[in-house]
Amino acid sequence: MDKEHNHSLIPQEKGELLAKNELVSRSVIKNLIREAISAMEHAYTPYSKFKVGSALLTTKQKIYTGCNIENAGFTPTNCAERTAFFKAVSEGEKEFAAIAIVGGKDGLITDYCPPCGVCRQVIREFVDPRKFLVIIAKSEEEYLVYFLEELLPMSFGPEYL
Ligand code: THU
Repeated sequence: MDKEHNHSLIPQEKGELLAKNELVSRSVIKNLIREAISAMEHAYTPYSKFKVGSALLTTKQKIYTGCNIENAGFTPTNCAERTAFFKAVSEGEKEFAAIAIVGGKDGLITDYCPPCGVCRQVIREFVDPRKFLVIIAKSEEEYLVYFLEELLPMSFGPEYL
């Protein structure tokens, strides 16, 4: 993963607006990461001990947080990203701008935590992959920003059906 390359897509000198998505400013990104870190504290992870937190931003700038929720049956486990999406969609939200994701063993963030394939596909259902941003963070200062399309190229979505 080329960190510098992805950061370079965000103009440093232009203040708050990002090249990737004008809805999401640098300060909003920091806030999303802060919320994701906070949401990670609620992760229910007796089996893997790997805690994940997410913060999903709607186009109206509302934030829905999520954490991973594990299960003794293992497969019913829900990832942090899907928790945030399902919370938001279940409350009537349909338009999304970005999601921030953090995670680590025992809640210690030592590396980036990219979204799993299932979550990428769930996100795909509700967003335009050319516009929606996935922010993968180690801290409020250290993060990578991708369009969903970059993480899930040539994807299958609702318009096919
Ligand atoms: N996990 C997430 O919450 N999001 C991801 O995208 C990656 C994996 C969770 C699921 C499980 O509770 C733990 O991390 C280990 O796989």
